[in-house]
Amino acid sequence: MEKPKKRLLVTGASGFLGYRVCMEAQKNWQVFGTHHAKPVAVAGVEALGLDLTNHDDLAHSVKQVRPHAVIHTAAVSQPEDCQAHPASSRAINVSATANLATLCARDKIPFVFTSTDLVFDGLNAPYAETDPVSPVNEYGRQKVEAEEAIRRICPAAAICRMPLMFGHAPGTGSGFLGWMIRALEKGEPIRLFTDEYRTMVDTVSAARGLILFTEKSGGTYHLGGRRRISRHDMGLALLQRGPWDPSLLIRASVYDSTGLAPRSPDVSLVSESAYALGYRPTDFDRALDEGIRSRGIVVRNPDP
Ligand SMILES: NC(=O)c1ccc[n+]([C@@H]2O[C@H](COP(=O)([O-])OP(=O)(O)OC[C@H]3O[C@@H](n4cnc5c(N)ncnc54)[C@H](OP(=O)(O)O)[C@@H]3O)[C@@H](O)[C@H]2O)c1
Repeated sequence: MEKPKKRLLVTGASGFLGYRVCMEAQKNWQVFGTHHAKPVAVAGVEALGLDLTNHDDLAHSVKQVRPHAVIHTAAVSQPEDCQAHPASSRAINVSATANLATLCARDKIPFVFTSTDLVFDGLNAPYAETDPVSPVNEYGRQKVEAEEAIRRICPAAAICRMPLMFGHAPGTGSGFLGWMIRALEKGEPIRLFTDEYRTMVDTVSAARGLILFTEKSGGTYHLGGRRRISRHDMGLALLQRGPWDPSLLIRASVYDSTGLAPRSPDVSLVSESAYALGYRPTDFDRALDEGIRSRGIVVRNPDP
């Protein structure tokens, strides 16, 4: 008889990253994925409606699922939203995260938390896990607070600092790559910073990394990609591969940003510890080809 699969609870299954975590995990786990405002059907995944800010509902979901591991991706993930709505975003990003960590610590459930490269100010890259945090906006400060709460409450947790990610998740905005492709398809210009750098990674690699860390010991890990690249160069790489007008790419500087949330210019991560533990991000060019193809677009000059 086949052994029953272990149960995995994924918060934020209706989100850009959570969707991909569910898709990858359901190959080997029985996956329960939570959504809040946007119910989403993920093949092979049991959907659970949950408002993370309701502690009783959260405790009930954990009791109901009895997970062997929890991957927590649900968040207010846009720095602009956190800056505009600090109290309501804090309730999710900090308080609900601490509550979930408490439940996991109580039941000794491996807990993986998605933090961010924006815990750093971007002035002293590249950043290792041992570098002091220095957030410049509300989102970064909330993630730092959440990290501190988790280390206190649930020291066995893996705190995974994620870089900017790209990929495709139906029913979501699909992040930075999705935004660029939608604009280019409509013939709208894309203004991209030449001086804002990230060690970007595709969501498939990131999802596999998070699943891997359900089995690792507690600590803080950087899950960056292997290439440091500016947003503008990402746009160039995209235009070289697709059927769009290259003149739509406009150069911009992070120092001219008019957004509400202050920006960190270079939050490239050193991720050697995660690589040594088996985290294997796909090569940037191949992952970008895949991200374009997954939308049914033929890639020109694909990576061989
Ligand atoms: N995207 C990136 O490039 C990036 C980079 C670094 C770190 N991260 C981190 O990675 C994680 C995933 O990011 P993402 O881009 O996938 O975010 P996302 O697409 O904005 O998804 C956020 C998820 O959180 C859920 N959520 C929000 N409020 C909730 C509430 N009150 N109760 C329950 N669920 C709630 C949403 O559910 P509904 O939509 O159903 O309401 C959605 O599933 C986040 O922790 C983010 O901070 C992301």
